[in-house]
Formats: sequence, structure tokens, C-alpha cells
Amino acid sequence: MYDEYIKAGQIASKVRKSATKRITSGMKVIDLIEWVEEEIRKNGAGLAFPCNISINDITSHYTSPPSDDTVFCNGDIVKIDLGTHVDGYIADTAVTVIVEGDNIEIDNNTSMPGRLDNGNPEVTTSDLEERVELIEAARNALECAISIIRDGITLSDISSQLEETIINQGFNPISDLTGHSLARYNLHSGLQIPPVSTGDTHTLHEGDVVAIEPFVTSGVGLVETLPQHYIYSYLRERPFGESEASKLLKHIQENNLHFPFAKRYFLDLYDEDKLNHVMHPLITSRAIFPYKLLKEASGAMNAQCEHTIIVEKEGCIVTTL
Ligand code: CO
Repeated sequence: MYDEYIKAGQIASKVRKSATKRITSGMKVIDLIEWVEEEIRKNGAGLAFPCNISINDITSHYTSPPSDDTVFCNGDIVKIDLGTHVDGYIADTAVTVIVEGDNIEIDNNTSMPGRLDNGNPEVTTSDLEERVELIEAARNALECAISIIRDGITLSDISSQLEETIINQGFNPISDLTGHSLARYNLHSGLQIPPVSTGDTHTLHEGDVVAIEPFVTSGVGLVETLPQHYIYSYLRERPFGESEASKLLKHIQENNLHFPFAKRYFLDLYDEDKLNHVMHPLITSRAIFPYKLLKEASGAMNAQCEHTIIVEKEGCIVTTL
């Protein structure tokens, strides 16, 4: 179990580091996502969830739909959140980077679901400075929290440490995006670790595995849920008779029972139009759950930094360092 967590962490960390070096303005988001997912598989791990890429005011739950024309622009603040698993033992890690490269011209008619500004963002020098500070604040908050984790620490101790570090750096934590406990084949296994103190006296013990993931913003520090969705997870059996929906649900039960998935996973079964059609009844009947896209509620830029850790007697092991 321990070895699998470590191996999943090493692969996640290696892929995360290489991914940050590949991003450049004009690159398609789907190209980075597919590269990340392929690297994870090549290195001998499975995907614990589709690679999430969240640009600027978007915080989470974006992955590319099958034909995605979204591109990165110079100055974007980009969260890359990826998850691996080895035999069900998960590593969950995220990093935030600023996109560099030439300014690109974007045709206004291009639909880019991965950006709410639809391209051509105006980025001033002071915007860029603030984005760098957001990233540093998220990284510092994560490091400070990790430095106090050991057997016997309460969730409230970790939350307060995150909150304090973020506020002291002049920003706000996003209070409704939380760290979480992990278990085998279970990405969110019950405990929540928000970046604001809650008084939660639950105590962590040696061997517990948690992901700590503060989000830092210059905005109000809440998320807003948008109607669109790109990531799903299996919920329950539903009767669909002899339909295509029934076949797809069976396929999901066989291949995606434990971990969230994206439409891209099923392109060998259906083309995009047909897939949308077949998936629709699965969502409306709650056979599968759609994770709605999340943005910072005031539309502000935000940064995220995440590691998975195993609690030890006198400290902790960061599996995704
Ligand atoms: Co996480």
C-alpha cells in the first residue's frame, strides 16, 4: 500500500513538472491534457481523474471536451491539477503557472469553452505581478501547512495555518474549495480540509493520506457554480433497456467505476455528437454525476497548489514532491 502511494506520487510529480515546461501561448489546452494523460499511462499509472486545466478566473472542473479549440494566451494564470493511481492508491497534485510566449491573434468566432474571456485577454504588468504573488502565496500556504502535519494534528490546525499564511500575504483563501482525505479507489474519502479555520477537531493519525490544496485569490474567496460540465463520475445503475445509453453505462461500470471520467474517454465508441446524445439520459437520470464548472465568484484570478501527503508519527511524507 505504502509503495503504491509512493509510486503514484513519483509519477504524478514527474508528469506535473514536465507539463509546466510545455505550456506556451497559442498551445491548445487539449494538447497539453492529452500529453499529461498519456505520460501518466506510459509511466505505469492509471488516471485518478481527467487532467484539469483551469485558466484565470476558472478554479476547477475543466477538462477538454473532445474537440476543444481553447488555447493558452500570454499572461494566463493556469492551474494544472492531475491525479494518478497505482492499484487504486492515489496521488493528487496541482501547480499554477503563468503562460509565456508571443501574444497571439484569436478569431472572435472561435468557441473556447476553457476560457470565460474567450481569448485576447488584456494583461498589464501589474496584473502579472499580482499573478506571480498569488502563485507564491498558494505555494507558501501549502508548505507552511505541510510543515506542521504529524500524528495528532487536528484538521482545524491545518486549516488555520493555511488561512493565516494566505491572509498574511494579502490575499483571500477560497473557502469552499477544500483539501480532502484519500483512500484506495476513493478520491474524496470523507474528510474535508478547507483553507479557513472551522474548529474541526478531527485528528489525523499515522498512515492517514490527505491532499492539501489551498486556492488563493484577489477576489471574494468563494466559488460560483456554472451550468456547463466536462467531468463525470458513476453514481448508480439505471434501467435503459436495450438502448445505447444502457451499453455506455455498462462500459462505464466496467471501466470507470471508481474514478471520474471525461467524454474524451469514449471516443473509440462514439463520435462527439452521438456521445452527447447517448450521455444525456445518463446525466438526467442520475446514473452519472456531472461536476459543474467552477469559477471564482467575483471573477478574480486565482492560484492553487496541491500535494498528497502520508501522515507519520513525527511529520509527514509528501508523495508528490
Ligand atoms: Co485534490
